[in-house]
Amino acid sequence: MGLNVVMMGPPGAGKGTQAERLARERGLLKISTGDILRDASRDQTPAAIVAKARMDRGELVDDETMIAIVRDRLMRPDAEVGVVLDGFPRTVVQAEALDRILEERDNGPLVVIDVVVPEQELVRRLAGRRICSNCGTTAAPGDMVANCTRCGNVMVQRTDDNQDVVLERLKVYQHTTRPVLEYYRSRVTFRVVNGAQAPDRVAHELNTLIDDAVAVAVPLKAASEGSL
Ligand code: AP5
Repeated sequence: MGLNVVMMGPPGAGKGTQAERLARERGLLKISTGDILRDASRDQTPAAIVAKARMDRGELVDDETMIAIVRDRLMRPDAEVGVVLDGFPRTVVQAEALDRILEERDNGPLVVIDVVVPEQELVRRLAGRRICSNCGTTAAPGDMVANCTRCGNVMVQRTDDNQDVVLERLKVYQHTTRPVLEYYRSRVTFRVVNGAQAPDRVAHELNTLIDDAVAVAVPLKAASEGSL
């Protein structure tokens, strides 16, 4: 039986950092919708150009596009072991679609983690974040290396990490993504982790919370019907 984890939390909470680690440690497939969109933007297709413009303004890409992307990834054979979702769902419509897809796949419980970090710390982290201009690798917290430790290319600031766009992303998170937490909050597999700690500490607590949630998990169908 697989395991599916959704990493929720505002921009800069450390969803990507923890998702990568969790996927590696538990042999799950990481699906990061932000990474998928950034990779696609290199192809310069009309859809990718529209999506990139929205990202650069700090707005969300439309639900239909995002659900199609995630459905496609989740239906591939390498997702059968289970997945860690980083950046999806971001709207209630996406969360409802995810429930339907996971019910269809029926491969293990869904654990939802809310990574909580004070806004001041989020702004500080995003201002200092550097990613590789070639492969997109994020530098470790506090690491100010000029070149990527994976491929050697130059490290740059993400185009949506400038101050104005960060403020817009935080606003969008409050208005549009926070309601998704209410959608999940009553489920027995919903957990909150304090993300304002050292990454190792967050990872340790996350693992404990996931094990605890899996132990009380019920079939997704019952959870999505709101009975638990
Ligand atoms: P996306 O790439 O998902 O960005 P985000 O949600 O804004 O999240 P971030 O990547 O900024 O932060 P994170 O929480 O992953 O933190 P990270 O681990 O990197 O989405 C970008 C855009 O794509 C969206 O704005 C939207 O336009 C579009 N999009 C994506 N998904 C979509 C969807 N489903 N629907 C519609 N549109 C969608 O860490 C941040 C920094 O902090 C790093 O430098 C890291 O090294 C550091 N750090 C991490 N953990 C710690 C720690 N514990 N202590 C200190 N520093 C830490």
